[in-house]
Amino acid sequence: MNKQIYVEETELHSNKGRRDFLKICSVVLSSLIGVAYAVPLIRTFISPALRQTVSGSTGLIELGSISSCQVNVPMNVKIVDAKTDAWTKFPPMEIGAVWIIMNEDKKFTAFTSICPHLGCGINWDEGSGKFICPCHDSFFDIEGRVLSGPSPRGMDTLETEIKDGKIFVKYEKMRLGISGKMPA
Ligand code: FES
Repeated sequence: MNKQIYVEETELHSNKGRRDFLKICSVVLSSLIGVAYAVPLIRTFISPALRQTVSGSTGLIELGSISSCQVNVPMNVKIVDAKTDAWTKFPPMEIGAVWIIMNEDKKFTAFTSICPHLGCGINWDEGSGKFICPCHDSFFDIEGRVLSGPSPRGMDTLETEIKDGKIFVKYEKMRLGISGKMPA
């Protein structure tokens, strides 16, 4: 009799153990399936926010044909580019302007038109042959060097490239109010 009770109790224990084991297996399996579905979903929503926010292109931007440049005559060209942030791609818009100068040796220099002092737009004054920032009267020569005024440095040059008779520029904004040229 006692032996029979013992056998039944043992069977009961082993059934309970099997049930617990199956329960654990099903919880682990469901968790793994949940993670497998959740990871790509989370990545889809989060990854744009982890990407670097871009304001305008980080590559070279085409400015036009070099044939439109005259020796030592600064030419103002608007920079138009598509802006992209984490989730949105905006239509092309004006993001700045540059001054392009071709010297006698057909070498090109590009300056951003932003004054390094406090960021006003720099103009070319044909009469005096100087660049002028009208905000606080900073004057620069044709090579962008400061002649007078509060600008802490000369005009900021930009990287250029000539390809198939066209001029390209890597447009960048620089930090204002400091003596060294540094990307903003
Ligand atoms: S912003 Fe150009 S001189 Fe001040």
